[in-house]
Amino acid sequence: MSAPNVIDGRAIAEQVNQETAQRVAKVRARGIEPRLVFIRVGQDPASRVYVGMKEKVSARLGIATQTCVLPESAREEDLLEMVARYNADPSVHAILVQSPLPRQISEARIFSAVAPEKDVDGFHPMNVGKLMLGDPTGFRPCTPAGIHELLIRSGVRIEGAEAVILGRGNIVGKPMAAILLQKAVNAGATVTICHSQTRDVASHCRRADILIAAIGSAQFVKAGMVKPGAVVIDVGVNRVPDPAAAGGARLVGDVDFAAVQPIASKITPNPGGVGPMTIAMLLQNTVRAAEGAAGLNPAH
Ligand code: GUN
Repeated sequence: MSAPNVIDGRAIAEQVNQETAQRVAKVRARGIEPRLVFIRVGQDPASRVYVGMKEKVSARLGIATQTCVLPESAREEDLLEMVARYNADPSVHAILVQSPLPRQISEARIFSAVAPEKDVDGFHPMNVGKLMLGDPTGFRPCTPAGIHELLIRSGVRIEGAEAVILGRGNIVGKPMAAILLQKAVNAGATVTICHSQTRDVASHCRRADILIAAIGSAQFVKAGMVKPGAVVIDVGVNRVPDPAAAGGARLVGDVDFAAVQPIASKITPNPGGVGPMTIAMLLQNTVRAAEGAAGLNPAH
């Protein structure tokens, strides 16, 4: 049994997934099979695992998937051509190009090539812009959208809270800030983003009512950096050497969970916190894309 202040990301993701499954059934009743295409380039082991997990949950919710794999040596034009083909295919509602891509390919150029209405990752500049503007017709990136949903469904008050985000990446840090900052219900936090050039990160962290760690540094957040009663969200997935573990390594988050859990009011475990929510939000975005194609969603 985990402590009562541990947020059960798997259970909350399952609630979202059940809602998605019901929406999938309505789309299917209109004769449309929601379809999500994954594109991977090369054999990055983590990407293989992530796409495999996304495929499994999709199947369970009634979302058809297809995974295309290009060789590590693929040229940017090859990938652009593949994206263009799925953009033009009306039986495909959603396209996800798994990051990271090999060095010869510009991620920005690829993300910009995915049709915005099929961009369930929320990485196209149109969707990034809509998020900044507070326009709900865009797609939000899955990890920050999942964290937002975790906070809401765990009863965390965001309005007026001091939110501190560690990490300024395009996938988590920056969109997370935009989501929490909006002038809207379940938003309206005072947001600080810390990064590698921030002076005295610990002093910022100690002010946080909501602390979100997405920097990719194993167990970076220690007990002395957390205000008693803060809500702590751990996005990190870091491989650390461990001779006792299978494969000689184990995965740890960006938060020193054992030290921080006793002083936090709520905290996500890792695994079983943010990860399942990221997949749940991807599939929620996917059913929304399919609803748009089925004429069920006038916003799209
Ligand atoms: N790599 C790590 N996170 C993500 C994500 O959310 N989407 C994609 N496409 N690639 C990723």
